[in-house]
Amino acid sequence: MATIKQGKALNIRESRILIAGAASLVGSHTADLLLEQGVREVILLDNFSFGSMDAIAHLQDNPRVRIVRADLMRLPDLLTATEGVDGVVHLAAYMTLGFSQTPWNAVDVNIRGAQNMLEACRVNKVGKIVFASSNAVYGYGPGIKGALSESIPFYSEGAPPAAILYGASKIMGEQLCRQYHQNFGQDYVVLRYSTVYGERQHYRAANSLYIMETYDLVRKGQAPILPGDGKDTKHFVHVSDVARANVAALQSAATDVAVNVSGPEPITTGELVDLVLDYCKSSLRPEIRPDPPGKVRLTSGGAFHIPHDKAGEVLGWKPLVHMKEGVTRLLAWRELQES
Ligand SMILES: NC(=O)c1ccc[n+]([C@@H]2O[C@H](COP(=O)([O-])OP(=O)(O)OC[C@H]3O[C@@H](n4cnc5c(N)ncnc54)[C@H](O)[C@@H]3O)[C@@H](O)[C@H]2O)c1
Repeated sequence: MATIKQGKALNIRESRILIAGAASLVGSHTADLLLEQGVREVILLDNFSFGSMDAIAHLQDNPRVRIVRADLMRLPDLLTATEGVDGVVHLAAYMTLGFSQTPWNAVDVNIRGAQNMLEACRVNKVGKIVFASSNAVYGYGPGIKGALSESIPFYSEGAPPAAILYGASKIMGEQLCRQYHQNFGQDYVVLRYSTVYGERQHYRAANSLYIMETYDLVRKGQAPILPGDGKDTKHFVHVSDVARANVAALQSAATDVAVNVSGPEPITTGELVDLVLDYCKSSLRPEIRPDPPGKVRLTSGGAFHIPHDKAGEVLGWKPLVHMKEGVTRLLAWRELQES
């Protein structure tokens, strides 16, 4: 194993942590975990452009929580928000669907927004940044197969432009972190999440959307749709495991490093549909129907998996929630929303 560079490690109980893009799936769970671990203060920053107060409403009366409405595109707002902050979890970003629907905003927020946050952290001497990246940095399309370990190159041939733009924006974010480390000694850890799913799921991420769409069809008594032969692989990670990885990265002395954060095992689309059908106790059979042209669905066409051994070596982290348990938790939450 290569030597792990050492930098600032945060003691959570003594720290003030700012989560940028906090009214989100990952942000709300990360805030929950930080509070559970006794964080001194957690600052939930969001412009609520698509995240919602619903995701963090349960935290608003907690005396250790401060909600700040601010925009990543406004550096002065970030300079104020990061005063006295020890660590930042930088989540605010547009994903592939956002890049297909509002590409101007997506380019601004994912690239300049990340740069603004790094600059605010430099000025206010924030000890550690955790940057939310994605397995999108490996690209998409037929070239994506086998083990997607941290050193594989970007693959773009034959993939939808929005997916490639999203992946490229995360590469820019990662490299801005590296540049701030080289030029100013800013400590950071990049976490490349695979597809995140779980309670408080939104409809903004192409792949987890598939679980929700499948569930919605089955609940209406309609056959779930398999866009291929059902053998296509996806690699999800439960949001509680992502929150644990974010906190582990803040606590770890590791710096200037990027690691995958993926679930215990990949799953095929067919197996995923079966999990939803089992949960709903449905005897419906899936219908094979290719996605309409232009639909942003990130099928790879091949079998791939995302190893997370490096996160184990660098952060002492490994995922705990298997797909069956995670899908059950997600759908139980979804059912509660309906009642
Ligand atoms: N959800 C996934 O499947 C997944 C997979 C890999 C990586 N990621 C990355 O993880 C991070 C969090 O994902 P999520 O699903 O929780 O995201 P999300 O879409 O739920 O949240 C993003 C938040 O950022 C906020 N935001 C957007 N623009 C902003 C701006 N200009 N200023 C301030 N706030 C702004 C939004 O209002 C929203 O609350 C993102 O960076 C995403 O790219 C997510």
